[in-house]
Amino acid sequence: MGRLKHYEQQEVLDLDYQGYGIVKPDGRVVFVEGVLPGEIVDVRVTRRRKNVSFGVPTTIHRRSDLRTAPFCAHFGECGGCTWQYLGYPDQLRYKERFVAEVLERLGGVTDPRPLPIIGCERDRFYRNKLDFSFSPTRWLSSEEIDRGEDISDRRALGFHVKGRYDRVLDVGTCYLQPDPSNAIRTQARRIARDHSYSFHDPERHEGLLRGLIVRTTETDEVMVILVIHEERPDLAATFLTELAGAVPEITSAHYIVNPSRNDDLGPHQAHHVLGTNVIHERCAALRLAIHPKSFYQTNSRQAERLYTVVREWLDAAASDILLDLYCGIGSIGLFVADRVGRVVGVEYVEEAVAGARLNAQLNDVPSAEFHAGDVRELLAAAGRAGSPIGRPDLVVLDPPRAGVHPQVIGELIRLAPRQIIYVSCKPSTQARDLAALSGHYAVERVQPVDMFPQTFHIECVADLRRRAGVT
Ligand SMILES: C[S@@+](CC[C@H](N)C(=O)[O-])C[C@H]1O[C@@H](n2cnc3c(N)ncnc32)[C@H](O)[C@@H]1O
Repeated sequence: MGRLKHYEQQEVLDLDYQGYGIVKPDGRVVFVEGVLPGEIVDVRVTRRRKNVSFGVPTTIHRRSDLRTAPFCAHFGECGGCTWQYLGYPDQLRYKERFVAEVLERLGGVTDPRPLPIIGCERDRFYRNKLDFSFSPTRWLSSEEIDRGEDISDRRALGFHVKGRYDRVLDVGTCYLQPDPSNAIRTQARRIARDHSYSFHDPERHEGLLRGLIVRTTETDEVMVILVIHEERPDLAATFLTELAGAVPEITSAHYIVNPSRNDDLGPHQAHHVLGTNVIHERCAALRLAIHPKSFYQTNSRQAERLYTVVREWLDAAASDILLDLYCGIGSIGLFVADRVGRVVGVEYVEEAVAGARLNAQLNDVPSAEFHAGDVRELLAAAGRAGSPIGRPDLVVLDPPRAGVHPQVIGELIRLAPRQIIYVSCKPSTQARDLAALSGHYAVERVQPVDMFPQTFHIECVADLRRRAGVT
């Protein structure tokens, strides 16, 4: 590969749907981080692909009027809140446009246009879950390197540096999660240092403390989960008891042992240490029990608004069977259960399914049932003899970012529900799936919902109706 280029005095022409600024030196597209349309910038290319390149600005000669000062001291190095240089109302304006463009370009959906985006009331401290990592060698800022000081203790607890799985930024104040999140991280770091516990090094694959997950709720219940590298129950209990003593708001504490090289906690069990086993979140009239390993929407306030869209859009009859696919702890199905005859949820994390059943009991919804398994496999059998899942009238889909497997699309077409409501956290994969369904389902309406201020991520709900006369 040839030398990576540096371009001078380039005008940023537009933003693409992943938030990159577009410049076109020599007619070739370069996607540039951290710039805004109308700005004149010098660009250093950092990666080159077949038809496009990626780069970073080295100098901004002309600034956009929309540019704002980042509020966080870690901006630029931390992998979170990467859009702080644009005010929140302008972020929303762009997100609304991105959804329309992506659905048109990748999904062929030109009509209807998306409805105006539902923004957040709170554009900071909106997350209910954060994952912090321990590291023995914290990331040094360029200023620290320039000062040339001898920093012998580099133990850190914080977030991964942008694009670096192996480097951790020692986070001071984080603006993502409400109190007592910052206090928990600060106290956890102090306890780890006071006891001289070893911090995990992923390259050497050694060191005891790997991660700390903090979950908060609108009901003020707080869960912490300590992730350690080897089976040390006494040490985990000592750590968590001391942490709960220092931060009395903690209501639930667990640890997970992850001896593997990757950070996937899926295969590893959570061990309860103190307080309650689960925490409870409120979502309108629902009370949801959240287990340490269950997925729940990370922005609780917006989850309620997202689910309200689904509820209002359901074209439901009292005898309908609703299939809630990728149901997590059953939250969407339970939120709409009183509008249908039966809710059937499918989810592959066993603990989440157990949580969904518990939530059905907690909210007194005997008409909801939940099945553990891969959506692809359970759907292939659905509606056939011996399957616990019958033919649905209505389907709600809320897949992970990768979207829906082509086989799942085929099974949905075979099962032919009259309405599919597709909730997505990645409009580009949603657009691909809408295109695959388009022969049988027409898009009736689209609602972008912002769950992730200060980032380019967008949640989007699409209402699909079965076309008349297709078989
Ligand atoms: C975006 S979350 C949605 C959860 C839930 N609907 C909610 O609102 O909280 C996606 C869920 O799908 C589950 N999941 C991912 N792939 C799956 C698969 N192939 N089969 C079953 N569940 C899956 C994940 O464990 C996760 O709980």
